[in-house]
Amino acid sequence: MDAPVLPVAGRVVAISGASRGLGRAIAERLHADGYTLSLGVRDPDATARRLGFDPERASVHRFDAEDAETAGSWIAATIARHGRLDGLVNNAGIFRKVTFEEGGEADLDALFAINVKAPYRITKAALPHLRAAGHGRIVNIASTDGKRVRDATASLGYVMSKHALVALSHATKFASWEDGVRVTALCPGAIETQMIASVPGATPAGNRLAPETVAELVSLLMRLPDTATISELVVNTRLEASY
Ligand SMILES: NC(=O)c1ccc[n+]([C@@H]2O[C@H](COP(=O)([O-])OP(=O)(O)OC[C@H]3O[C@@H](n4cnc5c(N)ncnc54)[C@H](OP(=O)(O)O)[C@@H]3O)[C@@H](O)[C@H]2O)c1
Repeated sequence: MDAPVLPVAGRVVAISGASRGLGRAIAERLHADGYTLSLGVRDPDATARRLGFDPERASVHRFDAEDAETAGSWIAATIARHGRLDGLVNNAGIFRKVTFEEGGEADLDALFAINVKAPYRITKAALPHLRAAGHGRIVNIASTDGKRVRDATASLGYVMSKHALVALSHATKFASWEDGVRVTALCPGAIETQMIASVPGATPAGNRLAPETVAELVSLLMRLPDTATISELVVNTRLEASY
């Protein structure tokens, strides 16, 4: 039988987009849990100053989702610095409004570059190390918009990108299951961050998820044993038909 939960000490987790918002809350939670962290962000110096983590247990590296080389260089720097990789949180993401009337090709390209292609690249670079670690864990921060189309006001571009991220999660699961890697598409509803400050139709401010609540779920997913696999975790802020 598996141990009830995985140990924390000595395990290294990489998190993209930890500069602010949900990524920062996840980094703070996992650091408090006792993990060693490798943070991939656009401005490493500013993030290192803002988070103020013990450098013995955290490193901050340049990762820009629109600069393809930085996915591999961040993961390589993680291995050079910490010697192993046990967990990956693909968190960095953007929202743009793209419907049949609003937005355009440039917005769609940005949504797919940052929300889909970058997680694919990071996963590809990280998988050999996650396989080698045993009990590797990947949490992809998708959205309820990765599970359904809310209504006609939703950003079709964002919805398509998050559905693609859920598909990437399942594909990664099949690619790495035999090596003990477990993958979750975490699909939260509205979270109180800058991202949705002006998104029409989003859950009203008083009813949104706190970033710390979602970080709590990531903390749990990192500790669950191989026999307690959660491939999709949908978190609703309001009543929905199916999810
Ligand atoms: N807020 C919600 O309601 C909600 C709900 C469900 C899922 N999500 C998902 O949760 C994740 C985090 O979102 P959030 O709410 O925390 O948004 P946020 O406050 O806007 O933060 C976005 C994060 O992504 C990073 N990022 C953006 N573009 C990047 C790029 N080109 N390269 C590297 N990093 C980049 C940002 O870094 P900089 O500081 O450098 O800009 C920031 O750290 C996203 O994947 C989002 O889709 C959000």
